[in-house]
Amino acid sequence: MGVVLKKISKNYNGRTALKDLDLEVSRGEFHVLLGPNGAGKTTVLSVIAGLTKQDKGTVMVGGRNANGLPPEKRKIGFVFQDYALFPHLSVFDNIAYGLRVRRLKETEIARKIDYYLARVNIEKEKNKYPHQLSGGQKQNVALIRAIVTEPEILLLDEPMSDLDAPAREKTGQELKNFQQEMGITTICVTHDQDEAFSLGDRVSVLNEGKIEQIEAPHDLFYHPKTEFVARFVGAKNILKARIIKIQQHEAIVYINNECLVQPFKIRVKKYPIFEKGKEISLCIHPEKIVLKKPNEAVGNNLNRIRGKIVNKRSNGKTLRATIDIGGTEIHAAIPKALFDFRIHENVWVCFAPDAPHPLCGKRCRADEAGRRCLNEIRSIRS
Ligand SMILES: Nc1ncnc2c1ncn2[C@@H]1O[C@H](COP(=O)(O)OP(=O)(O)OP(=O)(O)O)[C@@H](O)[C@H]1O
Ligand SMILES: [Mg+2]
Repeated sequence: MGVVLKKISKNYNGRTALKDLDLEVSRGEFHVLLGPNGAGKTTVLSVIAGLTKQDKGTVMVGGRNANGLPPEKRKIGFVFQDYALFPHLSVFDNIAYGLRVRRLKETEIARKIDYYLARVNIEKEKNKYPHQLSGGQKQNVALIRAIVTEPEILLLDEPMSDLDAPAREKTGQELKNFQQEMGITTICVTHDQDEAFSLGDRVSVLNEGKIEQIEAPHDLFYHPKTEFVARFVGAKNILKARIIKIQQHEAIVYINNECLVQPFKIRVKKYPIFEKGKEISLCIHPEKIVLKKPNEAVGNNLNRIRGKIVNKRSNGKTLRATIDIGGTEIHAAIPKALFDFRIHENVWVCFAPDAPHPLCGKRCRADEAGRRCLNEIRSIRS
């Protein structure tokens, strides 16, 4: 086992940062921590590293109880949220620091540093000091400084937040390569969902010092257990519904969000948790919505709701539209080439019965359709 946290609690001056938090990260796993500001992500890493002492609970690192171990005995590399480079040391000496503590030969140190700097394209900055580097360059130096000592556990606190998009992709790819080549158990905090989904073997979502859900990325996206997780992974369309009829493969549900002027019925794919009369929340990803003109034919296989476009904005190849369906807004992400609508135009909001999925409090399915859908979304985004 890589890292196990058992019932960890931490208060700062009476304010709870972590409460009874349990987390198991397997050896060699790339684990991503997602969560809003103040959720406790940095505190989790700091407790694992031994830099913050928990009030209660046990930290196990590599199968051993680490509660009594000082940070330097935990075989951990840490990239801090604010880089924490030594300001009086050059890039080379910052990275060499941990290797010199381990008494490596200077020729070996130089060889290693040149190799790693080249992999993240910052070999030219070798002799600069931290104040002469950009934020992104500092982050890459901090990352290399943590990796070069070949730790058993790598803790990364938003390690790429200051990199521009191409550098982020390059460093992210190299980070994943380093991690897999060395088999390092990695726990990485990020606010970037694409990063979480492309790097993580599993993702945890933290909310107010507790983990709300741990899943493989596609399951987190398609089977969020709670409204909090759904919203955090970018779900915008959450509809309250009552199940009124259950058929062989589908169910008829009555959408009755509070602000909705006229509740309506839709058909949804049947899930194991469905029971007649049950109140549920359904989430529809914006990418699963199709818009049609009022006079356009809509196939019987699709649900359709009357709406009016109230907002639209371009986001690369995708157009994001907000549609008022009578007191409630629905968000759609449509490939630009297929978008031919004006603001205030009436439309049909259409989606297939398998587009809405329930926020059911447990994992209710993980099927090929979910995986296909995630791939579609990735291709629309790229
Ligand atoms: N040294 C400290 N002293 C007092 N309170 C602290 C300290 N460190 C963290 N906290 C508090 O603990 C809570 C969790 O903080 P933490 O830094 O772990 O959040 P985070 O999830 O990393 O947030 P962010 O995304 O903003 O980095 C916050 O309410 C924060 O104010
Ligand atoms: Mg933090």
